[in-house]
Amino acid sequence: MPRTRTRLALAGAVAAALLLGGIATGPAAQADERHGEERTLAELAQRHGRYFGSATDNPELVDAPYTALLGSEFDQITPGNGMKWYATEPQQGVFDFSQGDEIVDLARANRQKVRGHTLVWHSQLPEWLTAREWTAPELRAVLKKHVQTVVRHYRGKVFAWDVVNEAFNEDGTYRETIFYRTLGPGYIADTLRWAHQADPHVKLYLNDYNIEGIGPKSDAYHRLAKELKAQRVPLHGIGLQAHLALQYGYPATLEDNLRRFARLGLDTALTEVDVRMQLPATEEKLALQAEWYRDLTAACLAVRRCVGITLWDYTDRYSWIPGFFPGEGAALPWDEDLRPKPAYFALRGALGEN
Ligand code: XIL
Repeated sequence: MPRTRTRLALAGAVAAALLLGGIATGPAAQADERHGEERTLAELAQRHGRYFGSATDNPELVDAPYTALLGSEFDQITPGNGMKWYATEPQQGVFDFSQGDEIVDLARANRQKVRGHTLVWHSQLPEWLTAREWTAPELRAVLKKHVQTVVRHYRGKVFAWDVVNEAFNEDGTYRETIFYRTLGPGYIADTLRWAHQADPHVKLYLNDYNIEGIGPKSDAYHRLAKELKAQRVPLHGIGLQAHLALQYGYPATLEDNLRRFARLGLDTALTEVDVRMQLPATEEKLALQAEWYRDLTAACLAVRRCVGITLWDYTDRYSWIPGFFPGEGAALPWDEDLRPKPAYFALRGALGEN
């Protein structure tokens, strides 16, 4: 069912078209836009057999204009925080699915699919887990119970899980997390097996940042994935977070990288896309950002096993960037007033609008 784009989006469309230049925006064209039915990003992506999604977070769901766009433009959502360990098991053995369930219910209402994020990560762990020492058998039992309880709860409700998040350092060595230190590298295979037992149908991913291009860190995933496949460990995909930054350059080997994972028989997904910049945002930076959004979309579309793209929220109003990278921001395709930026139109172009 075609959906109509909002008036807000239209105002931005005209502005951005003018900004990018060279696009006819006479009164007739504008009227045409206003009355015509515009395909959403999701619908454009579906024509390529891909999804187009956004992260979201529970506190934002009271913002009606925000949720309207979230529900109409995307066919996939990821909870930004609601399924993390601190949220789902705040006390040992006491599970709380209220936040994750709210996201799943919203997705159901909007006929969107959900990526589960995330089962095992060194960050945003509950106090009870980090504040004491565990023996290997103790931690193994804690980990197994957490993973299986959460995966079982969301069985049939999420199509994929980020099972282990951010397991490697930049140089390709294992990150010294509580899990690695206590259990050794085998915790990754064990967790994948436990998750698979709990939901044999859900797609299991390893997910990380700075693995968009070919380099020591993505090499580590390639090596590990190959080993896991050889050992018949249930692994179905690699999630490339794609938290990009204009000042570090575009990962030009993205497409090659996606292909080498595909050759291992793995899906890939761009799971947490944003393209930040040093503030203030200028016309030039926003134009370059638009090119990056276009290029990363084209790379995914060029590789059959790249199954979809998820923005790490869709509007600068709720981006995590300013809070984590002081002085940086403007990372998403919609601005703080929910107006589409050049990046939005670049996405449409890359997804083959027209
Ligand atoms: C971020 C959330 O967006 C923030 O709200 C939270 O305070 C910190 O975590 N990589 C990940 C995500 O895998 O879980 C992170 O999300 C962003 C970086």
